[in-house]
Order: sequence, then C-alpha cells, then structure tokens
Amino acid sequence: MRNVLITGGAGFIGSNFVRYFLAQHADVVVVNFDALTYAGNLENLAGVDVDPRYHFVKGDICDRAVVESAFKQFNIDTVVHFAAESHVDRSILGSSVFVQTNVVGTNVMLDVAKQCGVERFLHVSTDEVYGSLGATGKFLETTPLHPNSPYSASKASSDLLALAYQHTYGLPVVMTRCSNNYGPYQFPEKLIPLMIINALNNKPLPVYGDGLNVRDWLHVGDHCAAIDVVLQDGKIGEVYNIGGDNEWKNINIVQTILKELGKPESLISFVKDRPGHDRRYAIDATKIQNELGWSPAHTFELGIKETIDWYIRNESWWKRVMTGEYQEYYFRQYGEVAKA
Ligand code: NAD
Ligand code: TYD
Repeated sequence: MRNVLITGGAGFIGSNFVRYFLAQHADVVVVNFDALTYAGNLENLAGVDVDPRYHFVKGDICDRAVVESAFKQFNIDTVVHFAAESHVDRSILGSSVFVQTNVVGTNVMLDVAKQCGVERFLHVSTDEVYGSLGATGKFLETTPLHPNSPYSASKASSDLLALAYQHTYGLPVVMTRCSNNYGPYQFPEKLIPLMIINALNNKPLPVYGDGLNVRDWLHVGDHCAAIDVVLQDGKIGEVYNIGGDNEWKNINIVQTILKELGKPESLISFVKDRPGHDRRYAIDATKIQNELGWSPAHTFELGIKETIDWYIRNESWWKRVMTGEYQEYYFRQYGEVAKA
C-alpha cells in the first residue's frame, strides 16, 4: 500500500495522472493537494471523487502548516509534485506568483517531505529549463540549464532545489522533464486548446511572430505513463527526459486543427511575437526508453483528432472555465485580436 500525495491534481496533467494512477494501481491511496487556482478545476476529476481510495485537500503548497497536516493525516510516503504556475505568457505579464508557487512552494514541499521521511519524491519538470535550440540538436539530461522565461527560470530553480535536497539530505528525489503536452482537460490558454476553441467559434487564431517556432508534442497519457514508470523504477537523484520525437512548427499545428475542423486558414492572425520566445524545443528521450522501457503509445495523428473531438464534446467544460478571470486575461494578452 502506498499513500501518495499528488500536488496540482486538479490541473491538466495532474488530473489525467490521478485517473491513470488509480486505474493502474489497486493498492494505493491518492491525496490530491491543490489550491484550485484559475487552472485547477475539480470538474476534471468527475467520477474519480467517488473512489474510496481518492481524497482531496484544498491547500496552497506555500502554506507549510496545511502541507504538514495533509502529510500527517494520510501518512504520506510518496509525493508526485505537479503543482505550479505553468503558463509562459502569464509569467511574462507577472512573475512573482511563479516564484512564489514554483520556487517557495516547492521548497516547502521538499522540506515537509524530508521531515516526514518519504520514500519517494517525484518532481515534475519541463524541457523548457534547457532553453532554446537552433535548427539541429536535442535536449539531453546533461544539457546545461538555460531557462529564458520567468516560468522556465522558476522551474529550473525548483529543479535545482530538488536535486540539492537529494544531494544534501538524501531525500529520495527523482525528476522528469517533459516536452509540450496536449490532450483532454488542457486549460484553453495553451496553444492547442486555444486554437481548437477559437476555430470552433470562428474567432481569429493568434499565431505569435512568424509561426515557425518548433515544439515537441506528447500526448498527456504518454506523459502520465512515463511518470508512473519513473516513480516505480527511476534511480534516486536521476533526471529523465520525456518526449515523443514529434516536432512541429506552430503554424503547421494550427493548419492541422483548421483542416480537421473544416475551417478556413483566413482565421489565422499573425500577432506580435512573445518577448524572448524560445525558437525550438526537441527532447532526446533515449534514457527513459533504454533504462526504464517506456515509449509513447499515442500517435500524434490520432491523438490530435481525439483531442479535437474531446473539445467538441466538452463545450460546457470549456465555456465554464473561459468566464471571469479568463476573459480579463484574454483581452490583456491578445488586445485587438480578442475583440474580433
Ligand atoms: P496546470 O496549470 O494545468 O495545473 C496546475 C495545477 O496546480 C492547478 O490545479 C492549480 O490549481 C495547482 N496549483 C497552482 N498553484 C498552486 C499552489 N500554490 N498550491 C497548490 N496547488 C497549486 O499545469 P499543467 O499543465 O497540468 O502542468 C503540471 C506540471 O507539469 C507543472 O509543474 C508544469 O511545469 C509541468 N509540465 C507541463 C507541461 C505542459 O505541456 N503543460 C510540460 C512539461 C511539464
Ligand atoms: P504554449 O502552449 O503556451 O506552450 P509553451 O510556450 O510552454 O511552449 O505555446 C506553444 C507554442 O505556441 C509557443 O511557441 C508559443 C505559441 N503560441 C502562439 O503562437 N499563440 C498563442 O496564442 C499561444 C498561447 C502560443
């Protein structure tokens, strides 16, 4: 029996992981610890909440007393740490909450995990900590960290803290760094859901700069499977890159979505580039493939079709999350294009 605290379990990847983990392992107790920020939504876990192995605690990872109390109440022996501010554009609009949650919050999590003597602490990170690539090459686990955005700088800081806790105190940390995810329940501020929803609404699709920036896309289900493998078999103190060898230029992703929905390319609107926009990400995932036997199960061709279909079928989900604060953010971020 494992008592697993999953932080950020009400977000995009966290909620997919909670479902995946409960389905894969009969003998676990899962405690979802989440502050329910704008990105956290318990609707993402509809159906899971009735599972007697599942518990929810509303709390901020920066609040040490609440974190400690959850560890003690559920006798936590394992942590999977997803909770973070996760959107680059929001980090450019304001970085302090990124430092607070991603750095200070991670420090609290590491400290309480050390105090409680957990058996495993999986820190979920991102390929963005490596910075930007030119036309060739891929990120290896040994690539020096060179974060460029406030988001990636805060994630890199949390990675260094987690590794320092392993080195200094022997905290049993393992770490994953994954490429861009797509799939169900992704908040519609990120490229793929934003473009699907705008296309469905016949609204402009705002493409930054020349649209030639490259991202390496992985289905969220494959990310969840990789995290599970690292949680079970990853070596303490090691970092594992996760990626599907699936590079796409942004403009080609947008064109694919439009084609799939039967919408015209005239909906594409090239807008001012993101400041400091990383040009290209590409992951070398040889280590997790060779050492832990993981490989992606989803093809992008099918995965993107299923994802588009999910957003078509779940209009009421995205309509609800796109109210209030989201509208303010959207107008602030996209200016004139948002008014069209
Ligand atoms: P998300 O923004 O969808 O969800 C984040 C979750 O964390 C939300 O449920 C939110 O309520 C919660 N949270 C935020 N601040 C909190 C706090 N102070 N205390 C407690 N909970 C808090 O994010 P996501 O896309 O699911 O990303 C999850 C993790 O995976 C992050 O650590 C991110 O850096 C990493 N990651 C994401 C991607 C991607 O493509 N989305 C790729 C690689 C790694
Ligand atoms: P995003 O989903 O924000 O992920 P990240 O910046 O963490 O990689 O963006 C993916 C790519 O799409 C990135 O190159 C920025 C670009 N992009 C746009 O062109 N327009 C948009 O409206 C958004 C949100 C992103």
